Amino acid sequence: MDLNTIERDDIGPAADSAPAPAGTAKKVFVKTYGCQMNVYDSQRMTDALAADGYVATDAIAEADLVLLNTCHIREKAAEKVYSELGRIRDMKAERAAAGRELLIGVAGCVAQAEGAEIIRRSPAVDLVIGPQTYHRLPDVLARVRGGEKIVETDYAVEDKFEHLPQPKRAEVIKRGVTAFLTVQEGCDKFCTFCVVPYTRGSEVSRPVAQIVAEAERLAEAGVREVTLLGQNVNAWHGLGEDGSEWGLGRLLFRLAEIPGLARLRYTTSHPRDMDDELISAHRDLPALMPYLHLPVQSGSDRILKAMNRRHTASDYLALIERIRAARNDIALSGDFIVGFPGETEADFEATMELVRQVNYASAFSFKYSPRPGTPGAEMTDHVPEAVKDERLQRLQALLLKQQQDFGTSLVGRTIGTLIEKPGRQAGQKVGRSPWLQPVIVDEKAGEIGDIIQVRITRTGYNSLFAELA
Ligand code: 5AD
Ligand code: SF4
Repeated sequence: MDLNTIERDDIGPAADSAPAPAGTAKKVFVKTYGCQMNVYDSQRMTDALAADGYVATDAIAEADLVLLNTCHIREKAAEKVYSELGRIRDMKAERAAAGRELLIGVAGCVAQAEGAEIIRRSPAVDLVIGPQTYHRLPDVLARVRGGEKIVETDYAVEDKFEHLPQPKRAEVIKRGVTAFLTVQEGCDKFCTFCVVPYTRGSEVSRPVAQIVAEAERLAEAGVREVTLLGQNVNAWHGLGEDGSEWGLGRLLFRLAEIPGLARLRYTTSHPRDMDDELISAHRDLPALMPYLHLPVQSGSDRILKAMNRRHTASDYLALIERIRAARNDIALSGDFIVGFPGETEADFEATMELVRQVNYASAFSFKYSPRPGTPGAEMTDHVPEAVKDERLQRLQALLLKQQQDFGTSLVGRTIGTLIEKPGRQAGQKVGRSPWLQPVIVDEKAGEIGDIIQVRITRTGYNSLFAELA
């Protein structure tokens, strides 16, 4: 899938930790794995559970309900879930001995892919719920409390977004000045390595009116930057306000009219779906940040074909040229897979060459991991693990060098920065550059939510240091 998959278990619950009101409010602890869409989904599940009387907690020991929102994109992600379930099972047993209940739920893509197998392997789990049925969560919980074990993994016919409650204004404020907004879900591309078309189902686009209403609510609560999410976000095509079908470019123009929304982003895109209107949006919309995550996965035409990516390396390079012609300060980011079945040294070298030609500002790279049920897993000429390791190291060294060079190229330049939160060190605040780097400034440089002009003075490992320009 093309949504960046980052291990997020270090951020604890995606839900914000509301102080529990006095009394007997039930508490839910949500742990989020995987991509930004899971972060968004965890928040929507928390909102749905709030309507059911649950408050979010970031202390698992306090929780009456633990929800793991899981990721299935690569092997280790699912294995981590099973070992986490082992730990929670022990907690549940201790609780039961003390006469208190702890419910355990598994949501997300592992839930969708494994279904009842999860309860077979981890009998302490009470409910398994797939991404298309989160709006049924309160109902599912009621049945669980009645003593049932529930596996809810069908692709719902009803529109889950219509049934999920909107976050309360106070919740939005707590979550900060940047927000995710899912506009599209699922994928019809069937890249042969990827499990997403099976776990998230086929492509569904939300209608414009629903998206605009959600974006307006976010803006009214003080959100300044919205990232539109979709597994294949630029394939979004929704019912427009005028009754015709709109594409993502047109949607971005519409969202840019919302007062207060200063910055727009979208992720993640497939090269095949970058149409002229979207490229024009990059040229004509100052609010659309000059940063594009456009995964290519490989630079070898042979491997791209085996991956069913439906484009060649030169198609991709030509597209990048058109995008750069529209917006010359655009920074590119990508995803790469090394060691796809049949990948030779020459194929890998073609990937390195493509990376040298594009010059990425950031990127994510992974060793191929066979996913059960995907065509890639059935292929015969798998690449030895040691070869994958070695190629990944070479690729990552090159990508890291490009990322650092990009940071260094900004030193001395004046850029817009959205102030997001207090810094880790006293006296500092952290902002976000147009290219998603954290920017560290003096706390007096501006208030949270301000977009200020700063001059970059030096680079840190992963961040930029700046002073008010
Ligand atoms: N093995 C390795 N990486 C994968 N990705 C998706 N499926 C696999 C897999 N089976 C990577 C792709 C995708 C990113 C989110 O994860 O690079 O763009
Ligand atoms: Fe992205 Fe391809 Fe997976 Fe679809 S099948 S989510 S396009 S990697």
